[in-house]
Amino acid sequence: MKIPTFVSKFSLFMPRLFTYSDFAQGSEIVRTYADKHTPVVVCNPTAQRNVPFKVNVRIGVQAKHPNKPEHHFVYIQLWNLETLVGEVRLNSAELGEAPLQIEASFEVLPAVSLRLTAVAYCNKHGLWRSEEQFVKVTD
Ligand SMILES: [Fe+2]
Repeated sequence: MKIPTFVSKFSLFMPRLFTYSDFAQGSEIVRTYADKHTPVVVCNPTAQRNVPFKVNVRIGVQAKHPNKPEHHFVYIQLWNLETLVGEVRLNSAELGEAPLQIEASFEVLPAVSLRLTAVAYCNKHGLWRSEEQFVKVTD
């Protein structure tokens, strides 16, 4: 019996996972580069159990990221520890070609306290992870 084999042509280009702190000691240009790629989890620090809870993920605190076919964000994911909560695929062509800040909105139904992180993928500069946001869930 023949066993099917799957080969990814991108396997040699698996991106690193960057964080802002990897660049925090750099020059202002380097820190701006990191800012325009780093997702930030924006939500209340507390939530009620089994009540819909809104979580926004914003890319960049101040800097805008390019949005051209050869350089744009592809997706934003929200994670609770090792569990993928949701993913927003970005259609960059619909957003024009001017630099921009992107924000994605997620709705979570928390059962227990959360440790949220976001991951965003730039097609030129790879994967970027936010800092963790703890959300205490109470009755
Ligand atoms: Fe980029």
